[in-house]
Parts: sequence; structure tokens; C-alpha cells
Amino acid sequence: MSAFLHISALEAAAPLFSIVPETKRDVAEREALLDAVMGLGRTRKTSEAIRRGRRPAEGLAFSAGAADGRLIGTVRLWNITAGRCGATETPALLLGPLAVDPSMHKAGVGGALMRHAIGEAARLGHGAILLVGDPEYYGRFGFSSAATANLSMPGPFEPHRLLALEIALGYLAGATGTLAPTSRRQPSVITGDTAGHHRFAAACQHREIPSIVIQN
Ligand SMILES: CC(C)(COP(=O)(O)OP(=O)(O)OC[C@H]1O[C@@H](n2cnc3c(N)ncnc32)[C@H](O)[C@@H]1OP(=O)(O)O)[C@@H](O)C(=O)NCCC(=O)NCCS
Repeated sequence: MSAFLHISALEAAAPLFSIVPETKRDVAEREALLDAVMGLGRTRKTSEAIRRGRRPAEGLAFSAGAADGRLIGTVRLWNITAGRCGATETPALLLGPLAVDPSMHKAGVGGALMRHAIGEAARLGHGAILLVGDPEYYGRFGFSSAATANLSMPGPFEPHRLLALEIALGYLAGATGTLAPTSRRQPSVITGDTAGHHRFAAACQHREIPSIVIQN
């Protein structure tokens, strides 16, 4: 699925950018963009420890492409467990990194990537998305720290920046513990543990997905 964005109806013939599934051809440009926007220290972030050596969640890696084909934005989501509810792991998604080429900041690319990613995660039946980021930015998409008080990262983190969006109302209620990766491993380090979020079936009863809540 892709989405074409326009400044206005008057300029409808000239799409500014499109949101498309990430392909292998995007990888080099994506990594260069992330280095440029976030610096080389990005690899030392605690979130990166959850992503390292893993593949993004199925169908949940997106690129923003300019009209000239240049990659101008990226966002990916990863399978994790968001602690446990009782004895049962809480499958969820970790979002990040989100980055947009500085030449395109404030043109709506970041927002379009976020809304597309959230919509696809909901469509695929995921119950919650977590991330580490600025509440001032992610609040507009419905993320807050309200549901993460009993959750932590597997390394240094600022609790007020650990945010969640419950796609299913109350999905994270009772979830306690440390986020851990369950995304498929990259091919070079496959160990056979691909069960990941498919352990979902045994989740707490209340974690049925009763309603979809997406705030823009
Ligand atoms: C954050 C980022 C992805 C936003 O991309 P974008 O395409 O400029 O976003 P949008 O055009 O949809 O929204 C821009 C708005 O968000 C605001 N904004 C951007 N970053 C913000 C932040 N950290 N805190 C609060 N507001 C922020 C802008 O000021 C702008 O506000 P306005 O609409 O009132 O002018 C981009 O600034 C970026 O790549 N930053 C560096 C990497 C980063 O910090 N990533 C997030 C952590 S994973």
C-alpha cells in the first residue's frame, strides 16, 4: 500500500512525496539518512540493542520517497514483548527510528510516516506500539507514558520518554517488566527462534482486541 501526499488540490498533479514499503534498494540510503540525521551515536541507544541483528516486523518498514526518487524518510517497527501480564508475555511493537531528511522537515513527512505505520500496524492486528522519543512530538499521534509506568528498557532510558499507543483500548493494562526483542533474526544469525509474536495466542483474556483507537 502506498500513499501520495499533496500540498493542496491546486498542486495535486505534483505529489511531494510518497510512503511506500521499504525495499532492499532503500537500505544504503536509509542508513546514510539515519547517520546524517541522528549521528553515529545512534547505534549506542538502548532501543538499538532491541533492534540489532533483527528484521523489522512483517510488513512494517516504510520509506518516504521524494518525487525525484530520493529517499527522504524512514520508519520501521519491530516485534517485542512489552513485559508480561501475569505469566504471559505481552506482544507489541517498538517503533523507530523515525527520521526525515532535514531538507524536508516540517513538510508533513514525519507525520505521514507515523500515520501510515500506525494504520498498517492496526490493520495487521497489533495491539500496541511503544517507542522512546519526545512526548511533545509523539503525543499528536496518541502516544503517552500513561501505559508504560510499569515497563522499562533493557538499558539506560528516561521513563518519561518511554511512550505507548494502545491500538486496542487497555491493551497494556497489567503489563509489567522489560521490553525484549522477538523480531526475526537477520539471516546471518538465525537460531530457529522465530516464534516471536506468535506466542500471542496465550495472552491474557483481556488482551482480546475489542476496538481500534487511532488518534491523529
Ligand atoms: C522528528 C522528525 C521525524 C519530524 O519530521 P517532520 O517531517 O519534520 O515532521 P512533520 O512535518 O510531520 O511535523 C513537524 C512538526 O513537528 C515538530 N517537531 C519536530 N520534532 C519535534 C520534537 N522533537 N518535539 C516537538 N515537536 C517536534 C516541528 O516543530 C513541526 O511543528 P509545526 O507543525 O508546529 O511546525 C524530524 O524532525 C527528524 O527526523 N528529526 C531527527 C530525528 C529524530 O529526532 N527522530 C525522532 C526520534 S526516533
